[in-house]
Amino acid sequence: MAKAPEADAIVLFGGAGDLALRMLFPSLYFLDADGFLPEGFRIIAVARSELAAEDFRRQVREAVETRARPVAVDEAVWSRFAARLDYRAVDATQAGELKAVEAALAGARAPIFYLALSPSLYIGVCQALWASGLATPQSRIVLEKPIGQNLESSREINAALAEVFEEEQVFRIDHYLGKETVQNLIALRFANTLFEPLWNNLTIDHVQITVAETEGVGERWPYYDEYGALRDMVQNHVLQLLCLVAMEPPSDMDADSLRNEKVKVLRSLRPFTRHEAGQSSVRGQYVAGVAGGEAVAAYEAERGQPSATETFVALRVDIDNWRWAGVPFFLRTGKRLPERRTQIAIQFKGVPHSIFGGQATTDLTANRLVIDLQPDEDIELLLMNKAPGLSQGGMRLQSLPLSLSLLKAYSGPNSRRRIAYERLILDVIHGDNALFVRRDEVEQAWRWVDGVAEAWDEAAMAPRPYPAGSWGPAGAFALIERAGRAWYE
Ligand code: BG6
Repeated sequence: MAKAPEADAIVLFGGAGDLALRMLFPSLYFLDADGFLPEGFRIIAVARSELAAEDFRRQVREAVETRARPVAVDEAVWSRFAARLDYRAVDATQAGELKAVEAALAGARAPIFYLALSPSLYIGVCQALWASGLATPQSRIVLEKPIGQNLESSREINAALAEVFEEEQVFRIDHYLGKETVQNLIALRFANTLFEPLWNNLTIDHVQITVAETEGVGERWPYYDEYGALRDMVQNHVLQLLCLVAMEPPSDMDADSLRNEKVKVLRSLRPFTRHEAGQSSVRGQYVAGVAGGEAVAAYEAERGQPSATETFVALRVDIDNWRWAGVPFFLRTGKRLPERRTQIAIQFKGVPHSIFGGQATTDLTANRLVIDLQPDEDIELLLMNKAPGLSQGGMRLQSLPLSLSLLKAYSGPNSRRRIAYERLILDVIHGDNALFVRRDEVEQAWRWVDGVAEAWDEAAMAPRPYPAGSWGPAGAFALIERAGRAWYE
């Protein structure tokens, strides 16, 4: 396939919204500061409300300042960046109104259309882009999750996209794939000889993936209540992490090589049955509690009425293939948990036989590889070693981490933790789809998630309450204990 041309403009639909201001404009500014934006690259924000160009620039400037803190905005970069910015008040679902966008594009040949919008508008905007003639073979379209609310609705969106764009022109964002440590997982697995021979059911006992947040749902409930933790987090971020841990080595970093391997993992996920629902999953919803030292309200109080939506989910997932047969993956994610932590833990099996007598045998613990993605980026391999010093009655053993602190390794006066969107936007500019989710991937993830939701319905599994600031309902502990393991705290 011919290499996509470098994009020469970006149109941000939803350009006055929260995502655009918090993430997208700051990302574009930082890309500009580092010299990654092509010369003449234009940035056109589109939203429905009338806004004077100066007011719009001021809003963007404030957003960039907030994100850059404590470092000040570089005035030279800012004036270059501000000169790229434009704003158009347009209803993007009306092809006729897109004339204003065409004028602002000023002949750009390879524009990016970024839909930072409610998914309910995706199909309408897509059709308007086609009808207005703005969607050309050189253009590309970026969509935020959620792509649909289930398999059927995601298919409808994907079908509408496919009528207008080739799959290579479509960039479905899962912002977790833009995170540095998530990409590092690929490097760790495939740029080292050490792990791959051990990366299977002969050596690995189980895997834990935790995506814990301290925040509640708050003002986002109108969206969240329709989705819940399973659809909001598991369908995308958590399954993407699982895929990167579990996939076979791709032959290269080509977008399709990588995504083919991820789809194979998704296809191997054992479907949930009604019986399994009770055994292998837990739904929870936070009630009032204490988080970060403060009393916080129940989800239903934020929502203003009773709700059957889960804000926590824990799952035991089995991958039915040769590599992973018999290795359970334990997944959990939730709001209002005691700490913010995104972590993947690979638990290796113990040594087959202990040569150490007495206490040392008790001390002996199996190796574990812990990959922390948030809040800090860290990789630790827990290894056994001899406790220093003399002891009677045999050697003492202890577990110590071999640690790769990315914070320490890469901290310097000019180092800054990049926003995941910087990487992703840069890849869209260059037409590289590797870190974006392909159509069959998104649909396969929905197929499996729909199965979980159906099993919950059939088993009439309502969310169990858990106090805000705790690690979810008691059932989450029972779930993993039934398998003879425990969550790492
Ligand atoms: C979003 C979810 O996709 O990811 C949110 O909709 C969640 O509910 C967020 O809070 C978490 O992202 P991050 O990057 O803060 O871990």
